[in-house]
Amino acid sequence: MFPMDHSRRGFFNTLTAATTAAAGWQAFAAQLAQAQAPGVAADSYWTVVRRQFPLKEGLIYMNAANVCPASRPVLDRHADFLRDFHSNPSFQNRDKYAEMQERLRKKLARLLRVEPGEVAITRNTSEGSNIVVTGLPLKQGDEVIITSHNHPSNNDSWKVRARREGFTIREIQTPVPAASAEQLLGEIEKAVTARTRVIAVTHLTSTCGLLYPVREIAELARRRNVWMHLDGAQTFGALDVNLGAIPCDSYSTSAHKWMMGPLEAGVLVVRTGRIKELWPSIVTAKWSDTLADSRKFEVFGQRDDPRIAALEAAADFLEMVGLGSIESRVRNQGQYLKERLHALGVEVKTNLQPALSAGVVKVNLKGRELKPVYDTLYEKHRVAIALTASGDAMGLRFSPHIYNTKAEADEVVSSLKKILA
Ligand SMILES: Cc1ncc(COP(=O)(O)O)c(C=O)c1O
Repeated sequence: MFPMDHSRRGFFNTLTAATTAAAGWQAFAAQLAQAQAPGVAADSYWTVVRRQFPLKEGLIYMNAANVCPASRPVLDRHADFLRDFHSNPSFQNRDKYAEMQERLRKKLARLLRVEPGEVAITRNTSEGSNIVVTGLPLKQGDEVIITSHNHPSNNDSWKVRARREGFTIREIQTPVPAASAEQLLGEIEKAVTARTRVIAVTHLTSTCGLLYPVREIAELARRRNVWMHLDGAQTFGALDVNLGAIPCDSYSTSAHKWMMGPLEAGVLVVRTGRIKELWPSIVTAKWSDTLADSRKFEVFGQRDDPRIAALEAAADFLEMVGLGSIESRVRNQGQYLKERLHALGVEVKTNLQPALSAGVVKVNLKGRELKPVYDTLYEKHRVAIALTASGDAMGLRFSPHIYNTKAEADEVVSSLKKILA
């Protein structure tokens, strides 16, 4: 159930220079190992994990779909490298980041089960998706399929470009709630024509927490020779995303959400066979026409180098805790909360079936103004969530992560019950 020791190999020798963070990582690894010893209660593992997060005492933070806290080991490694950078910003002291970036690329590739040369390190999901949106050669008459619950970075971005260049957008309405995976796939299949060039969908929507059947959609795209772009902002770090089994052409995600990594870091995956079709959006120093893999999408000029160290730390943390264990925990938390909220009698907009949902839970309160409830939850009960004020996704969004507990879910439900009484 939990990751074996082999997943911890190499974490300590990734730390260059003497770092104060190393001791914290070692202590964390030892505590995780102890928590897995025979006879120790299964929940101890998650108690150890929870202790790594510097969340304020008494705060119930259930907003992973927006921004996650980074764990102490990640923050400490980031701080070490930040201090080191500013103590000596010479070219010589910064040389190490080139090597670190390549090591990070390999780690991310291993986690996502793609090739290192398919991984570009970006600044967030929006940037990664916009590299695809602006970089694909499209002309008048071409068609791009999007869904109404795509994030604006994978919806408005296509519309803005289409207005300039005259290609056609076919927007499919995302059903609330969705009836089945077949319904979702069927609607996309119906929209594909001989002119379709791109299908751009969201792995798990931030609006209502709908998990799309992305493997089947990607297979459809392959059969029709259509580029499939997948927005993974709500899945990498929450689910054990295996891009080896999802044949999409590109996948974009952010580190500051479920990955529990630094702010303003992200990952874009573009398949080897497709890289040459995609133009880079930003070209500056270090560009070369010989850049033939995903590195051609990360020529951004001077970067925040210590953030690369923080992103590597986030990848190490995911590997150490184990993406399989994380997925089970996230799914259990989401399912438990959904069922408790459903039992409370509020409208749950997230599909109740585990196959069509994961850790993002949206509820609507019919006949109640949402904003005062949202404010009271935070101000009186210290529950931090998100609010969608209008539209078909209108409601309160709860997105628990591995640092949340069942007791917190119970407290959230009982606080909501008191407010609604
Ligand atoms: C599905 C989805 N895509 C893209 C984004 C944009 O993420 P970022 O602001 O990190 O680029 C979000 C943010 O919430 C999202 O939920």
